Amino acid sequence: MPALTTFVATLALLSVTANSTPVDHTAAVQKRGFSLTQVERGYFVKSGPAQIAKTFRKFGKAVPARVLAALEAVENGTAPAVPADENDAFYLAPVTMGGTEVQLNVDTGSADLQLAGHEYYKATVSASKQLADSTFRINYGDGSGAGGKVYVDKVVMGGVTATSQAIGAATSVSTAFQRDQQTDGMLGLAFSELNKISPEPQKTWFDNVKAALPAPLFAVALKYHAPGTYDFGFIDKAKYTGDITYVDADSRRGYWGFNASSYKVGTGADKPGTIKAIGDTGSTLLYLPAVIVQDFYSQIEGSTDSATEGGYIFPCDAMVPDLSITVGGIPQIVPGEHIIWAPVDEAKTMCFGGVQDGTGIASFSIFGDIFLKSKYVVHELSETPRLGFAQQAGV
Ligand SMILES: *[C@@H]1O[C@H](CO)[C@@H](O)[C@H](O)[C@H]1NC(C)=O
Ligand SMILES: *[C@@H]1O[C@H](CO)[C@@H](O)[C@H](O)[C@H]1NC(C)=O
Repeated sequence: MPALTTFVATLALLSVTANSTPVDHTAAVQKRGFSLTQVERGYFVKSGPAQIAKTFRKFGKAVPARVLAALEAVENGTAPAVPADENDAFYLAPVTMGGTEVQLNVDTGSADLQLAGHEYYKATVSASKQLADSTFRINYGDGSGAGGKVYVDKVVMGGVTATSQAIGAATSVSTAFQRDQQTDGMLGLAFSELNKISPEPQKTWFDNVKAALPAPLFAVALKYHAPGTYDFGFIDKAKYTGDITYVDADSRRGYWGFNASSYKVGTGADKPGTIKAIGDTGSTLLYLPAVIVQDFYSQIEGSTDSATEGGYIFPCDAMVPDLSITVGGIPQIVPGEHIIWAPVDEAKTMCFGGVQDGTGIASFSIFGDIFLKSKYVVHELSETPRLGFAQQAGV
């Protein structure tokens, strides 16, 4: 009997608490989404081999010798100087960590919040914020990598706070990684299964805050030659045209995976065939199966798969067809203009293509920024995660 009495009393207390303080109700009303706009953080030299090498490393694969040779030639200064292209700025997202603003690269293709080459936690934060005995380690296929200690801190984006966010702060960074240090770090928005913290993988920022958002989703609208936006918790109808086409997302590998069902080059025939893919804001280019890439460039006069440049190039003044990829039965079009990615010589005679052969990087195609910059892409963490695609308004 005493046990039962205690139980009843506890119940009564709970119900009184709930009735007298409208906590749940207030919390529901306060749920709000927000839109995060990227900020321009300077310019970067658009190097095709550097981007391809970065993607191989990100997916844990050794960089092919011919890409390394092309990269070395650029770095040694033996390759022709690439003109500074004022149009391709580097865009980052402002994030507040424990009271300090940092600029992070928001990456839907990884799942760590990671500060790279940054002294922030060494200098200013007490050891009490360290997640004891945890470490993070990211390995690249060539034996290089990044690793360090793990901290727990308050991380705010757009007024939405994760109070206990795990942050990997690099203490050792190999040179291959250091080459890419225009950012303070990365904020990963893939599935927490990909998290590189051990012994216990930790949740992503989105996983930590999703219950506080009106809907468990974020929508990415990267832009061509302009800062893009990330809408958290809501869908902005003004940012796309037509309907959003939803497909199941395959999260088994921790990525935002999906299937495309056909492709079309320009006004040519639609060519059916499953393209297994992931969306990845952290990869610059669009990596597709060799056969599709060959077919695409066969439609561009003067194009060649260049050993010197480490990828497909073509005359900068060529007529570049649109590339249409069917997802959920609806064609998603990448404008040809977006595929003229970067001049490889000072005279801007030849240009490095935004579509490249993804052979050897992963068992799936990687739909990076070249694909995303004309799309509004909804990432929804419902019971079965799904992706929604629409053509961006005004593209
Ligand atoms: C780049 O420089 C390194 C060191 O000087 C040299 O070993 C390498 O052969 C050079 N590579 C190219 C492609 O020029
Ligand atoms: C993609 O297609 C493959 C078959 O080619 C299938 O096994 C897989 O379940 C599909 N994935 C999704 C997310 O629909």
